[in-house]
Amino acid sequence: DNIRRVDILLSADFQPGAALLAARARAPDEGLMASNMRSWREGLPSGIGGPVAVLDEIKRANLRGRGGAGFITGLKWEACRNAPLKTGQRRIVVCNADEGEPGTFKDRVLLAKYADLVVEGMTVAAYAVGATQGFVYLRGEYRYLLDHLNAVLARRRREKLLGENILGIPGADFDIEIHVGAGAYVCGEESALIESLEGKRGTPRNRPPFPVTNGYLDQPTIVNNVETFAAAAMIALKGGDWYAGIGTKHSAGTKILSVSGDCERPGLYEYPFGVSVRHVLADCGAKDPQAVQVSGPSGICVAEAEFDRIIGFEDIPTAGAFTVFDKRRDMFEVARNYVHFFQHESCGFCTPCRVGTSLLKNLMDKLHYGAGSPYDFSEIEKLNQLLQSMSHCGLGHTACNPVLDTIAKFRPAYEKRMNQQDFTPAFDLDRALA
Ligand code: NAI
Repeated sequence: DNIRRVDILLSADFQPGAALLAARARAPDEGLMASNMRSWREGLPSGIGGPVAVLDEIKRANLRGRGGAGFITGLKWEACRNAPLKTGQRRIVVCNADEGEPGTFKDRVLLAKYADLVVEGMTVAAYAVGATQGFVYLRGEYRYLLDHLNAVLARRRREKLLGENILGIPGADFDIEIHVGAGAYVCGEESALIESLEGKRGTPRNRPPFPVTNGYLDQPTIVNNVETFAAAAMIALKGGDWYAGIGTKHSAGTKILSVSGDCERPGLYEYPFGVSVRHVLADCGAKDPQAVQVSGPSGICVAEAEFDRIIGFEDIPTAGAFTVFDKRRDMFEVARNYVHFFQHESCGFCTPCRVGTSLLKNLMDKLHYGAGSPYDFSEIEKLNQLLQSMSHCGLGHTACNPVLDTIAKFRPAYEKRMNQQDFTPAFDLDRALA
């Protein structure tokens, strides 16, 4: 009963500067904003207020990354703040707005309608970690947001909420520039994103070392999702305890879901963590759903029998996609479509992913045309092992997920295609794409 739709990040009444002023107010007299501005660049030893007080709020809030993986934000920020700087280096804040997971569009709406909240969250982060340079890495397909975002940044500079002497305090410098990507899905992976920011081809790096110590131009860098920064601004404003009181024990706060597919009311829905899949389906007016793909193809396909499972890191973690499929849909074709996506988006850097995703696509196409056999199931299993163990990054690791999930939960959709040379698919993806 305590699960209901809320408007916390999606509330329209956030006043630009409110979170920064609240962060400043948390600083005791000896804190960063009040006195030693050198510390903005160099960070403060722990135990001193200001940034540490803000960091403590973020930790108390138990905020976890909203890009999908759920790493504890306070730990990431603290590691960056504690990373030593070499001569001439500075700390960097990067907002990952390369939202590419099929079915996810929450970051686009946050940037379009709540840009101040996101930028303020970045500035709070800069304050907490002692960063002076920031980037928004904007998905190539979101280029149309560029003028709007630049206007927000310019206004905030005029209002002393960004740029030099933030809040009028000499030396409190942090500015943000926007870098537009070129539409590669893999650049949403943080280390590929950083490579791209540096002007290179977006190829994922080996991690560790993580960006918190060796990020943009080898400098300590935090990369966080758009929604994470929005949540951080609200935490700076209202406090960690307030935020930790929302959601569940392991998943504090709210999650914005990008709801789409076979439902009457698609759109953005913000819930406290712990909401059940069934509850969201009822809210969005899904009629006769057979499955929901949560967190896109790299996530999980939730079948009808599992609709009481909950959105949260303890059960179904998600970057936000919530794509509904009703009983008219052929779940084999859903998986095949996702496999085509992964094959197309594989960056080609490592052979297991480049070849593996192509082989997987070929297999699914073979099944699609009715030329499959039970042997193909074992081939898929082998490919999965190869991709999981040998791929260089998460794209390859998760490429088989939609296939394995649908084989486990919708096996008849595959079996009906076995050895039926005359099988006529209800929907021909190749023809639709031609
Ligand atoms: P990860 O678990 O390797 O890392 C998550 C974050 O924690 C990163 O920022 C990483 O730098 C940090 N981190 C991890 N261990 C650390 C350590 N020891 N010290 C300091 N920092 C540390 O996950 P990854 O590979 O970055 O992302 C995978 C997730 O991305 C998946 O959950 C997937 O669902 C999601 N995803 C999201 C998309 C979107 O459009 N939002 C698109 C595709 C995937």
